[in-house]
Amino acid sequence: MTRATLTVLAVAFVALLYLGIKWWGGPIIPEPDEATRQYAQGFALFSQNCAECHGTKAEGALGPALHLANEDQLRTALMVGFYPMPDFSGAFSDEEITALWAYINALRED
Ligand code: HEC
Repeated sequence: MTRATLTVLAVAFVALLYLGIKWWGGPIIPEPDEATRQYAQGFALFSQNCAECHGTKAEGALGPALHLANEDQLRTALMVGFYPMPDFSGAFSDEEITALWAYINALRED
């Protein structure tokens, strides 16, 4: 199974679990807060678009390990498109870049 398939299955599983719990009549798991939601979205975007070259945890692979100080540096890097990294300008919405940053920044604090 590819990593993309596993990610889709994991997301589907969590969604079904969540819906199931809702249906049984109790928010046993509280609504995710904004930070958790962004992290999850960032994880999904990073897995699909960046992990192949930078590693799942941005530890570096074909591309370097990512050591970014802030979201602006991420935005700049996405627009520059250092060869062989694709030019991602316009590929992500503002909200998606913020989510990507939430994920990368959380890794940084590991
Ligand atoms: C095809 C492989 C590839 C993909 C996909 C890719 N990158 Fe890169 N990325 C690279 C390479 C290689 C470099 C280094 C280029 C150089 O230094 O000349 C790089 C550089 C960077 C840098 C600058 C790092 C630094 O220290 O200056 C950032 C930030 C970055 N990538 C983020 C991302 C993000 C976020 C994604 C997903 C949206 C992504 N990259 C997808 C290959 C990739």
